Amino acid sequence: MKNRKLRTMGEQFGRRSWAEPWKIKMVEPIRMTSPQERQESLAEAGYNTFLLRSENVYIDLLSDSGTGAMSDRQWAGIMLGDEAYAGSRNFFHLEEAVRQYYGYRYIVPTHQGRGAEHLISRVLIKPGQYVPGNMYFTTTRLHQELAGGTFVDVIIDEAHDSSNLHPFKGNVDLDKLEVLIKRVGAENIPYVSLAGTVNMAGGQPVSMANVRALRALCDRYNIPLHLDATRMVENAFFIQEREEGYKDKSIADILKEFCGYTDGAWMSAKKDNLVNIGGWLAVNDSDLFDALRNMVVIYEGLHTYGGMAGRDMEALAIGITEAVNDDHVRSRVEQVRYLGSLLTSWDIPIVKPVGGHAIFIDARDFYPHIAQDQFPAQAMAAELYLDSGIRGMERGIVSAGRDPETGDHRHPALELTRLAIPRRVYTQAHMDVVAESVKAIYDAREQTRGLKMVYEPEYLRFFQARFERIA
Ligand SMILES: Cc1ncc(COP(=O)(O)O)c(C=O)c1O
Repeated sequence: MKNRKLRTMGEQFGRRSWAEPWKIKMVEPIRMTSPQERQESLAEAGYNTFLLRSENVYIDLLSDSGTGAMSDRQWAGIMLGDEAYAGSRNFFHLEEAVRQYYGYRYIVPTHQGRGAEHLISRVLIKPGQYVPGNMYFTTTRLHQELAGGTFVDVIIDEAHDSSNLHPFKGNVDLDKLEVLIKRVGAENIPYVSLAGTVNMAGGQPVSMANVRALRALCDRYNIPLHLDATRMVENAFFIQEREEGYKDKSIADILKEFCGYTDGAWMSAKKDNLVNIGGWLAVNDSDLFDALRNMVVIYEGLHTYGGMAGRDMEALAIGITEAVNDDHVRSRVEQVRYLGSLLTSWDIPIVKPVGGHAIFIDARDFYPHIAQDQFPAQAMAAELYLDSGIRGMERGIVSAGRDPETGDHRHPALELTRLAIPRRVYTQAHMDVVAESVKAIYDAREQTRGLKMVYEPEYLRFFQARFERIA
């Protein structure tokens, strides 16, 4: 050891090291628990990491949703909350920020993303219609189904293969979409539901060329195109990095160009927009805006707060501007990649290329001896927690739920355990601890058993289902 030269991460990767473009001003203590405590906590939580108490979690990678750290400017904005019932000045700041960075004309605030999904699904979908999209997302699809629609997956086939290295695995397969349009008729498709970086595929991006071509196809059939912009900033980073002609464009310019091909967007502001709570809907059509604005007062709150406090809207307006900073996005994605590169170098099967917000471990390859009906990705999340108190979550058969027609489990091609990285929260040292814990459970994989579900709620079962270990 004495004569060995240690190497920085940058040196190991043959480049100069990068660092986060911020320094830490306030800390929140976390604590490591004992194996005995974790056994008890997990049993109490029915082997579902959503049911753990956060005080019993060491490094929390359950979600990147609402878990980010706000900046000093955002916290200062919290003190500028205008809590008027109507016409809060913070709403106008939010409206201005969405217009400036996303480019849409009309904005409706909502309490979070699913509030926005509810409104747009209810306003646009008629019972019996079909909603094509680039892979389902749990809450998005459920709102489309509750409105009477049927979601149809039109993502490219490569997205369903965790080892395929396609640079834009979130792309829509235009042929699949056109086949659907011809089969059901354009009048039965209220809109195409496009997500920027596809969560369930592993955070995979959509290319600018794809959205441009999609726009042209939608125009040909007169079908609107709406965007789930939840992680669209991260999508813009991948376009900048991978698509010809975008290397010298800013994230902000790319984001605006992309949104410009769509008719509107819904947003869970708890991700890219760097706040702990909030969401919005934005559209260009004034009639659609009127309908959404009328609906928001029924379900969320008045159209100038939509379920958020004035202070939340101020923090969100500031978060929108910080989110498009090129150095911020780069360090965010590079941190995720750092964890991914450690796991890859140890031959641990993860979804590749690594996406923007999380590492997704391929549970089928990790636990080839556990059948999908015995919930291997759920079992992996439980094992990781037992090993080190790190909390991830299942993104496989449990999340996919049941087919509303047949009542059978849906069997998604991807059976994944997700380690989502909160924005601006953890350091490289935390990532090292996570990587080592994944390796520990990988080394012990042959002893791991599957689970059986002993309680299943009707909707979005992954949040509240309970499991037991199979003997
Ligand atoms: C892609 C995507 N869309 C929509 C949502 C729903 O947003 P929210 O959790 O704010 O209701 C999420 C949240 O996880 C998401 O990841």
